[in-house]
Amino acid sequence: DKITLSIIKADVGSIAGHHMPHPDQLAAATKILAEAKQKDIIIDFYVTHVGDDIQLIMTHRKGVDHPDIHGLAWEAFKSATKVAKELKLYAAGQDLLSEAFSGNVRGMGPGVAELEMEEREAEPVITFHADKTEPGAFNMPIYRIFADPFNTAGLVIDPKMHDGFIFEVYDVFEGRSVLMKTPEESYDVLALIGTPGRYIVRRVYRKSDNLLAAVVSVERLNLTAGRYVGKDDPVAIVRAQHGLPAVGEVLEPFSFPHLVAGWMRGSHHGPLMPVPMRYAKVTRFDGPPRIIALGWNISKGRLIGPVDLFDDVAFDETRRLAEMIAEYMRRHGPFMPHRLGPEEMEYTTLPSVLEKLKDRFVKTEEVKVVKKHSDLLSH
Ligand code: F6R
Ligand code: MG
Ligand code: MG
Repeated sequence: DKITLSIIKADVGSIAGHHMPHPDQLAAATKILAEAKQKDIIIDFYVTHVGDDIQLIMTHRKGVDHPDIHGLAWEAFKSATKVAKELKLYAAGQDLLSEAFSGNVRGMGPGVAELEMEEREAEPVITFHADKTEPGAFNMPIYRIFADPFNTAGLVIDPKMHDGFIFEVYDVFEGRSVLMKTPEESYDVLALIGTPGRYIVRRVYRKSDNLLAAVVSVERLNLTAGRYVGKDDPVAIVRAQHGLPAVGEVLEPFSFPHLVAGWMRGSHHGPLMPVPMRYAKVTRFDGPPRIIALGWNISKGRLIGPVDLFDDVAFDETRRLAEMIAEYMRRHGPFMPHRLGPEEMEYTTLPSVLEKLKDRFVKTEEVKVVKKHSDLLSH
């Protein structure tokens, strides 16, 4: 029988700005999931956070998009919101965009990554959880893991992986996906996913047997709510080993702190910094964007773990480089490319600034004939 690993995450309020949730919120969510485990609705669970996002990691036999599981997550977030409201935490209930749950949390605010699997003899899985960035932040690392032989030696030397992988690329504006083969269509894949604000790698399958190897959350709160209500801090699930990329190959791309969209006010580019769980909080300029990697084995649906995979000296230099990049980017202040382009910003004053200036804009030819500079400022 099949096991489903579901990660459902939401920001329902945090201490001292968008820093991290209060322990009582995690306890409230834990209590709801513990009761569900008792009632055999789920097999196992783990509750954690990265930055201001609460992460519910659950295993069960109900498949993806199941109302019992999504309803359970909704209940847990409601309960954590109640705590947030009682403690007057910041942005209490932020990601619960609707008052009433309607069977599925997709489109209601929380982010979702779910992977249904036939448990292998041993089932090593890594879950990634990021804050202050967007799902497209996974495009580069996922590509490297499953399609770049300079990252993943197994693509070249493991017969089970040598055929390559199939990428499902999701267009967030059109709400539709395309399946593409690597290595044959690598350049076409890159042509799309190099625009991470629009085209997101959503799922990856092993070509030789269609085994589902990776899933990324693709919720975009800005489009979901019809207005921009926050960057949709993403999660991903990646299965590893035995004919799939090794754990070390899955972690390898994160040794490069690539620039992602998010950070302060969801409107800036900054480096994605891999951190241990104890640093899964945001400080400098509400960041920099951070990611944790949790290692698990799944045993008859039980979650064995986690191990805190970025809690290691092997990523110290990456973090140092990320800090240097953060410093370099910050020096640009309100200028692009640190600040995002106008179409990608979480919010902007540009329309009101333009409105205020509309009578003062004059054709450049007219500017030339203005005698005194003060004429231009006379409004
Ligand atoms: C970004 C984020 C924060 C806030 C910032 C302003 O995703 O959560 O950087 O955008 O702290 O927050 P408000 O507007 O709530 O004061
Ligand atoms: Mg937030
Ligand atoms: Mg967040």
